[in-house]
Amino acid sequence: MADPEATIGRRKFIGAIAATAAVVGLPKSGRTEQLRLPSPPTGTTPSALARDEAFWSEVATNYDRTEGAINLEHGYWGKMAHPVQDAYIDATRMVNAQNSFYARKQFAADEQESVRRVARALGVHADEIALTRNATEAIHNLIRQYRGLADGDAVLYADLDYPHFKTAMQWLEHARGARPIELTIPPRVNQAEIFALYRDAFDKNPDLKLMLLMHVSNQHGLVLPVARIASEARKRGIDVICDTAQSWGLLDYQVPSLQVDWAGFNLHKWIGSPVGVGALYMRRGSLQNVAPYPGESDPGDALVSTRVHMGTANFAAILAIPHALDFHEAIGAANKEARLRYLRQLWTDEADSMSHIELLGGLDEESWTGMGSFRLTDKRTAEEVTALQQRLEQEFGIFTVIRKGLSSGYCVRVTPQVFTTPDDMARLVDALKRLA
Ligand SMILES: Cc1ncc(COP(=O)(O)O)c(C=O)c1O
Repeated sequence: MADPEATIGRRKFIGAIAATAAVVGLPKSGRTEQLRLPSPPTGTTPSALARDEAFWSEVATNYDRTEGAINLEHGYWGKMAHPVQDAYIDATRMVNAQNSFYARKQFAADEQESVRRVARALGVHADEIALTRNATEAIHNLIRQYRGLADGDAVLYADLDYPHFKTAMQWLEHARGARPIELTIPPRVNQAEIFALYRDAFDKNPDLKLMLLMHVSNQHGLVLPVARIASEARKRGIDVICDTAQSWGLLDYQVPSLQVDWAGFNLHKWIGSPVGVGALYMRRGSLQNVAPYPGESDPGDALVSTRVHMGTANFAAILAIPHALDFHEAIGAANKEARLRYLRQLWTDEADSMSHIELLGGLDEESWTGMGSFRLTDKRTAEEVTALQQRLEQEFGIFTVIRKGLSSGYCVRVTPQVFTTPDDMARLVDALKRLA
């Protein structure tokens, strides 16, 4: 299965970094085995490969396993695969040794290479991307620097949006005199229903100027029909900030398919980079309504880089971006999406027929991802759901997380990763049965 061409040495750096590292004889990451990128068998489809345990157990050898629990909470951040971790550790050593001599002379070119790789993977131009430290930085800058609001204009978000972005949208009331509107999306819903809810909100609020639009909800993994909603918003002159923090790498897509002008990503969830890397996307020609970061200047409204000011950031994490993308692309985005959906179906298909369990998320497969949420039927308070999460952990050794934010109440989120096994999911199903 392994492709000899895909063998990568521990010291594989991008361009000039390799030269620098070689010249100064830097310490090594310490791993003794040769690392190989995953190489899916030829002639298979993502849905067939999703059930190929030999392939996925090979992929899993690239990750260290969580000790002490079956970890089904991978929506927080993604674990680095060994080749990425080694590249990151080696880059950390190199940057620390070379210090300003590297950072002042070479880093800008290496950072640009990382930007190009992000842009290529997202299917956009490099000048439409600025690196950030996380998705929050990208989305907060878009909200805070938005300059298209007049006093009393309405701004829209939904109950299933990321909690800190909801509060940032609410902040626009005090900061700009805007009128925030929260849309409630039912806990289980399909693509047509979601679109209809947004369209109705547009109809009822003709003074809407700005909206936050989630691609995949961190509450229960629900996928929103972003392209349809954004196209409808565009017709009505509503600017859209798209939260793609949870979707890139969980789903296989490129930015143009979303039909949005602005989006905020991270690479430390489903792309598997070190923690501390995100990206702001702004389509060419769409910058006028978002002011430069305070103190930055962009008279032509053409430079995405002026919408962010990171200051000194983690050089090594940025250098590890191409390695994370190499690993992600070696598995294949479509293969990863299919495997994660398959692992989710292993528990949601069973849970759907348990009367003591309420599932939250999609009603149709298009609205589902690899993530999902549940609670005990009619038990949706913080105390009840915390007790449920604790029982799963203490009685069954399964680690999950509670999510708050949905109008319908709290839930427990379940998020497998590419190294999660069907046996892990079977343990969850067994636990769900015993919760009756
Ligand atoms: C949907 C969603 N948006 C935004 C964020 C924030 O991402 P980051 O931690 O990269 O800022 C998260 C993180 O969990 C998320 O799930």
